[in-house]
Amino acid sequence: MNTSCTQHIRYHISQRVRIILIILICIDRHRNTNDLLPHGLRMTDSKIALAHEFFAGNAESYDNVVRLATFGGDRLWKEQIVQCLSTPTRVLDLACGTGILTFTIAEQHSKCDIVGVDLTAEYLGIAKQRAATIGRSDIQFLHSSAENFRNAEPFDAIVSSYLAKYADLNVVTANAASMLKPGGLLLMHEFTYPTNPLVARVWELYFPILQWMPSAQLRQWSEAFRGLPKLLRETTWVADLCHAMQQNGFTDIHIKSLSFGTAAIVLGRWIGD
Ligand SMILES: C[S@@+](CC[C@H](N)C(=O)[O-])C[C@H]1O[C@@H](n2cnc3c(N)ncnc32)[C@H](O)[C@@H]1O
Repeated sequence: MNTSCTQHIRYHISQRVRIILIILICIDRHRNTNDLLPHGLRMTDSKIALAHEFFAGNAESYDNVVRLATFGGDRLWKEQIVQCLSTPTRVLDLACGTGILTFTIAEQHSKCDIVGVDLTAEYLGIAKQRAATIGRSDIQFLHSSAENFRNAEPFDAIVSSYLAKYADLNVVTANAASMLKPGGLLLMHEFTYPTNPLVARVWELYFPILQWMPSAQLRQWSEAFRGLPKLLRETTWVADLCHAMQQNGFTDIHIKSLSFGTAAIVLGRWIGD
């Protein structure tokens, strides 16, 4: 075997070793971070504190990151949510963030009176700016937790996207019952941990890879990408929400599994007093 051929083989072996090492480091880092949430937070700590940790200082990049990180799935999921609303005149979007879902509803239902509520002022600031830019300053964006929010004027529908894993679902569902018109819809959309073992394997590799992507925008999300896998493995939000709905006078409760079990929509109608 001549020298150049030997060098060629050496080069390929070293490249493969490098790739294997990177994968092993990713998996190891992933394992080490499984037991601890950011800044030593544990699952028993307040979920509100966790939401503050995850969403501090990254509102500007949120829309891009959610689109890229879900491979465009977020847009499709939001469209499915909007399809579940028939012709609402008044809608509440809980944990509206920068308003992606709020404005998707506004596009489809131009006459609809919409209220968005969120815990993080920075996210609401972006939503308000956008409302002014598109001439929809009538959309109200209010600073509150979903658990504390009340409104005297009843809604046809209360929706949320990516709130369920952070929220006290008993409280949110009881509040929703008190704010909905009879027959009104409560709908929550959120990530779920896939039950298919093959999908779960791919899912497990996904967050460590996101953490290692050389992107300044993704770096703002490293706390969230580190904490989310454990939160999503452990959350029982689908069962908890169905139970809370049954306890609070909701009927027609349905679960729609989305995108190979990586997300779900749970919805039901409030019967009325
Ligand atoms: C991933 S973002 C989703 C934003 C928006 N719903 C969307 O689909 O683009 C999650 C949002 O939930 C908010 N949040 C988390 N826990 C909350 C709570 N208990 N009450 C109100 N907002 C909450 C955060 O401030 C953040 O803006």
